[in-house]
Amino acid sequence: MKTIAKQGLKFNEPLIFERSVVGKKGYSFKECLSNGSDPEDIFDDLFIRDEIKDFPEVSEVEVIRHFTRLSQLNYGLDSGFYPLGSCTMKYNPKVNEDIARFKGFNKIHPYFPEEFTQGALEVIFGLQEQLKKITGFEAVTLQPSAGAHAEFTGLKIIKAYHESNHDEKRKYIIIPDSAHGTNPASTTLAGFEVKNVKSGPDGYIEAETIAEIMDETIAGIMITNPNTLGVFEQDLDKIIKIVHSKGGLVYGDGANMNALMGKLKPAEIGFDVMHLNLHKTFSTPHGGGGPGAGPILVTQELKRFLPLPLVAKTEEGSFHIVKNAIGSIGRMKSFMGNFTVLVRAYSYILEMGERGLTQATEDAVLSANYIRESLKGHYHLPYEAESLHEVVFSDKNFKDLGVHTIDLAKRLIDYGLHPSTVYFPLIVSGAIMIEPTESESKEDIDYFIDVMKTIANEMKETPELLHNAPGISYRKRLDEVKAAKHPKLRWYKLDEETDE
Ligand SMILES: Cc1ncc(COP(=O)(O)O)c(C=O)c1O
Repeated sequence: MKTIAKQGLKFNEPLIFERSVVGKKGYSFKECLSNGSDPEDIFDDLFIRDEIKDFPEVSEVEVIRHFTRLSQLNYGLDSGFYPLGSCTMKYNPKVNEDIARFKGFNKIHPYFPEEFTQGALEVIFGLQEQLKKITGFEAVTLQPSAGAHAEFTGLKIIKAYHESNHDEKRKYIIIPDSAHGTNPASTTLAGFEVKNVKSGPDGYIEAETIAEIMDETIAGIMITNPNTLGVFEQDLDKIIKIVHSKGGLVYGDGANMNALMGKLKPAEIGFDVMHLNLHKTFSTPHGGGGPGAGPILVTQELKRFLPLPLVAKTEEGSFHIVKNAIGSIGRMKSFMGNFTVLVRAYSYILEMGERGLTQATEDAVLSANYIRESLKGHYHLPYEAESLHEVVFSDKNFKDLGVHTIDLAKRLIDYGLHPSTVYFPLIVSGAIMIEPTESESKEDIDYFIDVMKTIANEMKETPELLHNAPGISYRKRLDEVKAAKHPKLRWYKLDEETDE
């Protein structure tokens, strides 16, 4: 554990908010300093707002330090390892940020005439083409602003397809227990009912299970592949054939495409609709349900139902916005979606190239399997099936010691790490879901493995360290339900008695 000491544990400094001292000044205007006048005298009345009173009186350096310290309390992707399984917290290259800030991209307005925005339209068109190439689908919309929004859009397309066939009896969508949690919610919102199926003992959906329930009332199936165990669905081929043979459509939750890029084109194995999470696979910032982007890709047969507008290329080579078409489910987002998110994804894809994207997949899978192999003697692996980009352990080895998965998660903070995803997927007791991604170095992954092994020993020898964790963070363990339901988003003075 020699590496632990080198991590910056910087939270132990007390955070004092009351720094104001009457009479301190936080400005230094040369003019005022030289003739002793009050700065208020040199400002126009227009800029002096009487309604803003009781400002803290602090010096410039105190303000700078206060806000810098606050910013350091925030743990982000740029601070360190972030193994949040299912979320794919990989590094977002800074060059993409620079490109998204080019004036030609961020100063244009969606109402500008097309002849002034050809460059932006070319980016949108280029991204559409790249995503089609990567996945093998015929058409795409970039409108949806998150994965869940994309699921809703894709399901509306499935609905429109069945309605166009006057096939209104199809009211169910099959969702396996290893699907992502947003799938059932999107299904209900789109006006379908959920038919749950259990995955088999090896973590796969079994073709026989689908064959048993598939009939003419089923509109389709939603398959997260690789599923939330990080496992490739082995019976995929058979399942797709069964669903198609009864007139259903197959929706692919392709948010985990970061495990498949360059290895498999989902359209080629029979998916009809699929979404991507640009913020997972194509390194755009995560936005807590938006502003992100979750493109939907479809087969030729479903193309006419896509939301509008879309960007098309004319025979002369210019780009234009297609606003009307028969069959479209309509608009899902204002204008063209989150344009500068699309710019970042396009720039990532072009920088990486085909080989680079394949390498990203290979490295993500390698990193997850390295962690799996290194930790499997220390933590219980509930499924033997091969892992792709993430690995899920259970609490079986430690729950009898009176230690819970949440204690492990909080203890990781004490070692300067972001916790992994916990208690998800629901099919694993006390799940610990680790997704290292391709952007972590071997040294950082080794540090994480060392820490996990150390914590496994602490569980047996010093469990109180886990029960009391985190010990070094500014806020100690929170009541997570209360924090989510009644968030206090502004600073307030803690009651010394209750610490509330
Ligand atoms: C497999 C999968 N599907 C869907 C989603 C939902 O995406 P979003 O959070 O963008 O709504 C996620 C998010 O991580 C996911 O991992």
